[in-house]
Amino acid sequence: MTRRDIEDRADCERLVRAFYGRALEDPLIGWIFVDVAKLDLEAHVPTIASFWETVLLGARSYAGGAFRPHAVLHAKAGLRAAHFERWLVLWRATVDELFAGERAELAKSHATRVARAFHGRLQPLPSPAQGAPGGLSITLRGS
Ligand code: HEM
Ligand code: HEM
Repeated sequence: MTRRDIEDRADCERLVRAFYGRALEDPLIGWIFVDVAKLDLEAHVPTIASFWETVLLGARSYAGGAFRPHAVLHAKAGLRAAHFERWLVLWRATVDELFAGERAELAKSHATRVARAFHGRLQPLPSPAQGAPGGLSITLRGS
């Protein structure tokens, strides 16, 4: 079957769900969603689908303010370049698996821009020691 482009909100939701299917199980970033954010997927998917519907389909269903929750996560867990890189690898792979076309390309390029911008804004902010891959996070206590 030929892959088609992202056409409507249902496509955005399908993409977002498929992405989280990977992200939540990922050894490098899964713990951030599961253990740190304790993400309620059913509540979260509509918000992220609205974000992509706004970026890709001009829907204006997303109100903005995407950066802030990531600043909160960064303060708790330390979002590093490697986390953003993995996020992007999973996102690009999911987009390419399901869709092909101009909007699919835009989904990948816009994610890259947002990831860069988020990472750049987070870097100077304080955060705990880096969580180790594999779901272990090292917390320095005392002294
Ligand atoms: C139709 C075109 C576009 C739409 C609808 C769109 C939409 C959005 C939305 C909704 C956000 C999240 C903003 C927030 O939550 O505060 C965002 C973030 C961002 N967009 Fe776009 N965008 C578009 C085009 C572009 C282009 C052409 C670029 C760069 C050349 C770009 C670069 C960025 C960056 C860097 C961020 C992250 C900003 C930050 O630090 O918070 N976008 N975009
Ligand atoms: C290491 C990378 C990332 C991690 C671990 C991460 C994790 C999360 C988590 C846990 C939330 C939910 C926060 C909450 O509501 O408590 C969230 C929200 C969100 N993320 Fe990310 N994210 C990452 C990168 C990105 C990138 C690159 C984008 C954009 C392309 C993005 C777009 C969004 C949006 C739009 C929201 C919804 C914010 C809102 O509630 O309006 N994230 N993210």
